[in-house]
Amino acid sequence: MGTGVTDTEKNGNVELDAADLHRDGVEPAAAVGFGRQAGSYAKVRPAYPAAVMETLTSLLPPTPDVHVCDLAAGTGILTRQLLDSGYRVTAVEPVGGMREELERQLAKAGVDILDGTAEHLPLDDRSVDAVTVGQAFHWFDPQPALTDIARVLKPGGVLLMVWNARDENVDWMRQWGDLVADLGGGRPYQDHRELLWEDVVAESGLFTPLEHLEVPQGQTGTPELVIERTRSTSFIAALPPERHQHALDAVAQLLATHPDTRGRDQITIPYNTQIYWCRLNR
Ligand SMILES: C[S@@+](CC[C@H](N)C(=O)[O-])C[C@H]1O[C@@H](n2cnc3c(N)ncnc32)[C@H](O)[C@@H]1O
Repeated sequence: MGTGVTDTEKNGNVELDAADLHRDGVEPAAAVGFGRQAGSYAKVRPAYPAAVMETLTSLLPPTPDVHVCDLAAGTGILTRQLLDSGYRVTAVEPVGGMREELERQLAKAGVDILDGTAEHLPLDDRSVDAVTVGQAFHWFDPQPALTDIARVLKPGGVLLMVWNARDENVDWMRQWGDLVADLGGGRPYQDHRELLWEDVVAESGLFTPLEHLEVPQGQTGTPELVIERTRSTSFIAALPPERHQHALDAVAQLLATHPDTRGRDQITIPYNTQIYWCRLNR
């Protein structure tokens, strides 16, 4: 997006203001939604379970010289875990609102923060030992992104992708997912439950076969946590104000009426964290 967008323009379910649009190469729902709700995102989204850093550190023991690019770093949830593990970290994030929150969160933590997209990484060839992608690969144009990730990795470098995926085997969570998708006008990206990441990575021909680990984790809080979680969903955040409020009200109604959540002052959001990794095959 960018040139040619004036005042307000409709793109699917997302009402775009030119001032919200950041740059080419980022889905409008991500640019607008994440840009508007970065504070909510930082407050409500859970960190990744210990198994994520255990997986990475077993593949790539950390030292201050081992350089990791945390791609699509957002507000820095995974970036912080990489820094705490002892890596040198460069965070790449294209959306200004998310980058500002990242700077607020991690300004003093010694991380380099760069503006850039997965498809055009602002890094030199063969300059990093690993690329990590938290909760974001589904937003990328996968083959151009994999090609550019391969370009910046050193020989044998690691690609690790992770999602804190909501566990929709839990009935109220499934209903939340359906409700949010319906009221948001459908998910703006290809739903990653329909994609096999093993196939996407294999298609590139650039990496070893993708390995996978699933780890359950729960995030417990008041019903307001679930409302905030809804607010931090990019394509809900990107809705015009009255549809945005309608979606939040509908979620409050679900929590007030579903047998597993009504009357509860503590609710656990169930996640199954999906960890995928591979190495550059050169
Ligand atoms: C759900 S957030 C994840 C943020 C963070 N990695 C985390 O684990 O919380 C998705 C991020 O992907 C970024 N993003 C979307 N499209 C992108 C692209 N083409 N290249 C790089 N980042 C992108 C968004 O700006 C947003 O910050």
